[in-house]
Amino acid sequence: MSRVARPASSLFCYLRVSLVLILVTCLIIIMVPLKHWTNTACLPSQNTSSGASFKGAVTNITIAELLHNISRQVKVAGVDCAAIFKGSKDEIIAANNLIGNISAPLSDSFYLNLTQDCGNFHKQRGYIMSSLRNEEKQFPIAYSMIVYKDSEMVERLLRAIYRPHNLYCIHVDLKASTDFFDAISAIVKCFNNVFLASRRIQVKWATYTVLEPELVCMEDLWKYRKWKYFINLTGQEFPLKTNHELVKILIGFHGAVDVIASVKGVFRNRFLRSKEPPHGLRIVKGAVHIVVNREFVDFVLNNKISKDLLAWVKTTVVPDETFFGMLNANPQLGIKGTYKGLPEYNATRGSFARFKNWGGTPCAGRRVREICILTTGDLPLLGRSPMMFANKFFLEEDRVVIGCLEEKIFNDTRDEYTGAKVFDITPYKNADFITNQVD
Ligand SMILES: *[C@@H]1O[C@H](CO)[C@@H](O)[C@H](O)[C@H]1NC(C)=O
Ligand SMILES: *[C@@H]1O[C@H](CO)[C@@H](O)[C@H](O)[C@H]1NC(C)=O
Ligand SMILES: *[C@@H]1O[C@H](CO)[C@@H](O)[C@H](O)[C@H]1NC(C)=O
Ligand SMILES: *[C@@H]1O[C@H](CO)[C@@H](O)[C@H](O)[C@H]1NC(C)=O
Ligand SMILES: *[C@@H]1O[C@H](CO)[C@@H](O)[C@H](O)[C@H]1NC(C)=O
Ligand SMILES: *[C@@H]1O[C@H](CO)[C@@H](O)[C@H](O)[C@H]1NC(C)=O
Ligand SMILES: *[C@@H]1O[C@H](CO)[C@@H](O)[C@H](O)[C@H]1NC(C)=O
Ligand SMILES: *[C@@H]1O[C@H](CO)[C@@H](O)[C@H](O)[C@H]1NC(C)=O
Repeated sequence: MSRVARPASSLFCYLRVSLVLILVTCLIIIMVPLKHWTNTACLPSQNTSSGASFKGAVTNITIAELLHNISRQVKVAGVDCAAIFKGSKDEIIAANNLIGNISAPLSDSFYLNLTQDCGNFHKQRGYIMSSLRNEEKQFPIAYSMIVYKDSEMVERLLRAIYRPHNLYCIHVDLKASTDFFDAISAIVKCFNNVFLASRRIQVKWATYTVLEPELVCMEDLWKYRKWKYFINLTGQEFPLKTNHELVKILIGFHGAVDVIASVKGVFRNRFLRSKEPPHGLRIVKGAVHIVVNREFVDFVLNNKISKDLLAWVKTTVVPDETFFGMLNANPQLGIKGTYKGLPEYNATRGSFARFKNWGGTPCAGRRVREICILTTGDLPLLGRSPMMFANKFFLEEDRVVIGCLEEKIFNDTRDEYTGAKVFDITPYKNADFITNQVD
């Protein structure tokens, strides 16, 4: 959090206004007989040093109470997540001794049962069924979620990013178990804005089938006219930001597309059996995590060049790492928001799509194919990261790391809503991919 220095007089005025607001809020709280809401709800606002905090805060008492309730609900019992985020070695060790034991895993049949009454499901699991603020409502995000196992992890991911105005397309791999598919189908039926992909594909690494579910979801999502950005997720990722923060970050993109691409990183042997790419397009190796605008998705689905490119990448190996990257690294195509700079991994280029530890940074746990599987010991880094999402987690190996991330996200959602916390967008300004985009 950063606070902008203000002239003393206006600060004084601010404090006065805040104090009045605090008093009014507390009065209402005291007058409304709420059994379980202690006046700790007022505490953050009583912190006069956060006088600027009421700026942009919304205070519908019912919603504030709900957010307090949800925070309490997701609080990890017996673990001091706040201390872990601050880097406490002792807390990390203590939590590591509890790993896998802080709460019982939730099974497919648990979800089948609980979703029989959707209202109860929303309540029991602590879904935020309100858009919270107009700014968020006016900026819907469309997600694809490519999943194949662990219904609890998928459901907790959905809960962490769920808002009633966003859109969620869930693709369940054709090779997933029937129980898993049934559980996800039951969850989906409890929401108007969550749906299963219209076609199911058996995903096989390194083939076109990795890219295909994304395209199916893009097509399904395209029918909805209001969303502003598309983000693709797998069932082993988790947000590091609240919906409000994601919206703030994406507004700051000014339409830019966040898809890393590199010329140096191209694996030539992936193209040995292919002709030259169509339309003289430059080959790059792209990142698999994409954050793209509507115009980009429109181009992917409806443009002739995109169709030619798609036909060509089908002849290559690992086409999913080529297709979106190439669309972003060929500014002559004129796709709004794509990158005009040299498509290299550029320290100043920036990207906020994923926290992913490929090496260079210590990994608290183990690595699988070079990628650090994120665990409790990685939380201090995750808490500081400006990235929107993190990859990747195995819930069955560490339940604390997801629990603490949830605790932070739902705390932040609550505190931003009541005005106790203000999100600092400074790190997201002036990234090269934002200032250097096709308009
Ligand atoms: C008040 O806010 C300041 C600045 O954000 C923070 O350092 C301090 O810990 C807060 N105090 C309380 C009691 O919340
Ligand atoms: C507060 O939010 C609740 C739940 O969304 C809604 O029913 C109520 O009308 C809102 N109250 C005000 C004063 O806006
Ligand atoms: C918050 O939780 C309390 C206690 O469980 C409950 O009585 C109250 O209705 C909840 N408030 C909201 C808005 O859900
Ligand atoms: C979340 O909020 C609760 C209650 O305000 C607090 O005890 C807890 O430490 C917070 N957790 C984190 C991760 O900030
Ligand atoms: C899990 O928790 C139970 C009850 O608190 C305890 O008896 C058991 O030893 C714990 N198991 C592990 C592996 O920590
Ligand atoms: C659903 O869960 C409830 C509460 O745990 C249990 O009482 C009930 O028997 C379950 N119903 C089914 C159909 O499994
Ligand atoms: C996003 O889409 C790309 C291209 O299809 C794919 O390779 C990648 O796995 C997807 N990423 C996630 C996190 O689903
Ligand atoms: C990296 O970004 C800087 C800052 O915009 C730019 O001047 C430079 O050309 C970029 N380098 C490459 C290799 O794209």
